Amino acid sequence: MQGMKVVSNLVMFIALLLSNQIFAEDSAETDTPTKNTILPTDFELMAESPSADSKISLDNSIVNGDPNKGKKIASKVCAGCHNADGNSIIPSNPILAGQHPEYITKQLLNFKSQDNKPAERKNPVMAAMVAPLSAEDMKNIGAYYAQQEPTPGAAKDKELAEQGEKIYRGGNIESGLPACSGCHSPNGSGIPPHYPRLAGQHAVYTATQLRAFRTEQRANDTNNVMREIVSRMSEKEMEAVAEFIRGLN
Ligand code: HEC
Ligand code: HEC
Repeated sequence: MQGMKVVSNLVMFIALLLSNQIFAEDSAETDTPTKNTILPTDFELMAESPSADSKISLDNSIVNGDPNKGKKIASKVCAGCHNADGNSIIPSNPILAGQHPEYITKQLLNFKSQDNKPAERKNPVMAAMVAPLSAEDMKNIGAYYAQQEPTPGAAKDKELAEQGEKIYRGGNIESGLPACSGCHSPNGSGIPPHYPRLAGQHAVYTATQLRAFRTEQRANDTNNVMREIVSRMSEKEMEAVAEFIRGLN
């Protein structure tokens, strides 16, 4: 038991080290207060992404989104699939309630195709949804969902969830898989702005995303971080960790 704990601490440490490197480049050239911390600002991450060159990018004069303006859009167009408060009840549609605003805004931007370039995150449904949105709309929507209370979920298959918990907290030393908790935090609430909240997410959606990173159908993760991680995972591990995450809160 003691040995297991040492291993999981080690894996967690490696994960943190890894995450430190991931964004280290971004912060190297700037003189912001975030210089010595793990995470650069939203702005630096965006500046590195190809979409920063195109017509719409995140205008950093809009620091905080307006949740009331976000609500107006969310309750009309998005509610049918994500529910009015972002607690989607359809397993293939992600729960957005309680997600970090910066992460939501980044995803919306990534779904948008610009200057005839393909979108960074490919999804025909969401591409249509974001087409009419401005960067300001995206920030307002992020602010709205972030304020909504996520409804706790529950794992259906207890045994599978237990296997998933081991991966989530300890990774897999044999394949060099880091613990998810190192970046998505032990309770799954994530670490804003870059590391999304996972807790309570539909298992179907989570597993779909892991597979999409695996096949590179989803490739909008900065510096390949998630694609690198899933390359070390088996199908069974993806399913197990997704089941555990559903009941995590
Ligand atoms: C017809 C159903 C549908 C509608 C309407 C819809 N979405 Fe989605 N949304 C989806 C699906 C399905 C996904 C998952 C896409 C994937 O697998 O990459 C998604 C993904 C997302 C994500 C990424 C979440 C994450 O955790 O990475 C965000 C953010 C989002 N939608 C916001 C919105 C907003 C804002 C609107 C309204 C403007 C909207 N959606 C309208 C179906 C929908
Ligand atoms: C080194 C840091 C790091 C580790 C370790 C890590 N992740 Fe991630 N993960 C990220 C980042 C960064 C993103 C956001 C990618 C983006 O911007 O689209 C992410 C995104 C995700 C998403 C997409 C969420 C959504 O709403 O669409 C899932 C699912 C996920 N990670 C699951 C996992 C699982 C499961 C593990 C453990 C096996 C794990 N992650 C380990 C950094 C990490």
